[in-house]
Amino acid sequence: MENQKVLILDFGGQYNQLIARRVRECSVYCEVKPYDLPIEEIRRFDPIGIIFTGGPSSVYEAGSPHPDPEIFRLGLPILGICYGCQLLSHHLGGQVTAAQADSAREYGKTPTRFDADCRLFRGLPEESVTWMSHGDYMAKVPEGFRLVARSEACPTVGICDEERGFYGVQFHPEVNHTEYGREMLRNFLYGVCGAKGDWTMSDYKREAIQAVRAKVGGGKVLLALSGGVDSSVAAALLAEAVGSQLSCVFVDHGLMRKNEGDEVEAAFSRWNINFVRVNAEERFLRRLAGVTEPEDKRKIIGEEFIRVFEQEAKKIGAVDYLAQGTIYPDVIESGRGDAAVIKSHHNVGGLPDYVDFKEIIEPLRMLFKDEVRQLGRELGLPEYLVTRQPFPGPGLGIRVIGEITREKLDMLREADYIFRDEVARAGLAGTMSQYFAALTNMRSVGVMGDGRTYDYAVALRSVQTSDFMTADWSRIPYELLDKVSVRIVNEVRGVNRVLYDITSKPPATVEFE
Ligand code: XMP
Repeated sequence: MENQKVLILDFGGQYNQLIARRVRECSVYCEVKPYDLPIEEIRRFDPIGIIFTGGPSSVYEAGSPHPDPEIFRLGLPILGICYGCQLLSHHLGGQVTAAQADSAREYGKTPTRFDADCRLFRGLPEESVTWMSHGDYMAKVPEGFRLVARSEACPTVGICDEERGFYGVQFHPEVNHTEYGREMLRNFLYGVCGAKGDWTMSDYKREAIQAVRAKVGGGKVLLALSGGVDSSVAAALLAEAVGSQLSCVFVDHGLMRKNEGDEVEAAFSRWNINFVRVNAEERFLRRLAGVTEPEDKRKIIGEEFIRVFEQEAKKIGAVDYLAQGTIYPDVIESGRGDAAVIKSHHNVGGLPDYVDFKEIIEPLRMLFKDEVRQLGRELGLPEYLVTRQPFPGPGLGIRVIGEITREKLDMLREADYIFRDEVARAGLAGTMSQYFAALTNMRSVGVMGDGRTYDYAVALRSVQTSDFMTADWSRIPYELLDKVSVRIVNEVRGVNRVLYDITSKPPATVEFE
């Protein structure tokens, strides 16, 4: 059975993925597509409604992105957000102009008044706070439209033509700062588009398993399992779908956190699959000996990973399908102009041209991270695997600053474990986006008992972020930092100092190397 679908046309705004996530949270399936998607493809996609995202352009400027005007004649409901709202106005006979300074231009939280008899705002208070970020405004509302929301600075915050199912809002209902934003999206989906709410992870699980079975038949599937959330959930799904036809290769490069390898192994032992754990610490450390340059370390780890994986794949023999844990944000993001390479990221998703296989399968390709976690729960993965924070492919290799040795890795594993343990005890695990310890390459003088020490400094790092492109450092309670510091210095031999990193990204990055 096909899900109902909503089409989100991307005009380059910064919250586009967020809109899609919000729609999915309402149990409605949606996809983000480029704004110039040909009208025949839109018809073929067969959505129940369309959302125009915001964007940085001005609708009246030459070269600004516009949809095919035929879209307004499809008979489908449209919700325009910010730039998307201005598009509605521009194309349907209204007028959009640059707001004069301090008049109708708005930025930030804005008290806004609504007509509650508009379907978009039905059942919601007549006044609430919205999040605005617009320099243009609608000087003239198109014929057939009503003004249904206004703020002090801007009389044209919301418009609608209920007859045709066209709605436009200057503010961003998808961001949390808009008090009733989710409810407005829900009203659009259920009240206007006639959504039934047929997008659930239990259905997805069932259908994805069927789809994998239909595709794979009796073929062999190979998956590189990193122990991260995405590859673990992909593995669980495939295990459920094709059981013993699946081989998972888990390369333990010796750069894992404390107990991590065993935890991954334990989680997958209950399925009847071919699970291979390759203990490759030795060879990774050999190749990394004496290497201090971060990019060199990353490249070596990446290459070695592929070699080990390849070797194991050869042992397994001809595979028909290589499975990957690619998720939807990777899909949306790829194909955009490349930014400068700050770090050469490596994860097992990037594997390999070298293994002989017929086709790639990506069972999580259309899912957001939170959906992947939900699916993981549906599949019965333990909570610690499902909620695991992001962990870089090169592992602790880029958290031991400078040369990597087993002693340093062991020190770091202990320190990192203590940090994670105390965060969990304080009940704060869910409040930080990513947190970990790194072992600096700095030694300094300390005093312990009556003796002088000359030992390493551990740096703690914790960040708040939604996309990991930018991040702020977490305001961790001092008492927690104190506990962690005392424990690390007491329990980890070779460490006599603990530092807390208070740089945001940019100018720093999340990881140290
Ligand atoms: P940076 O250090 O670039 O990190 O600010 C941003 C996010 O990416 C993770 N990261 C990686 N993930 N392979 C990965 O799969 C990598 O090589 C890699 N390097 C960094 C990092 O942990 C953070 O979440």
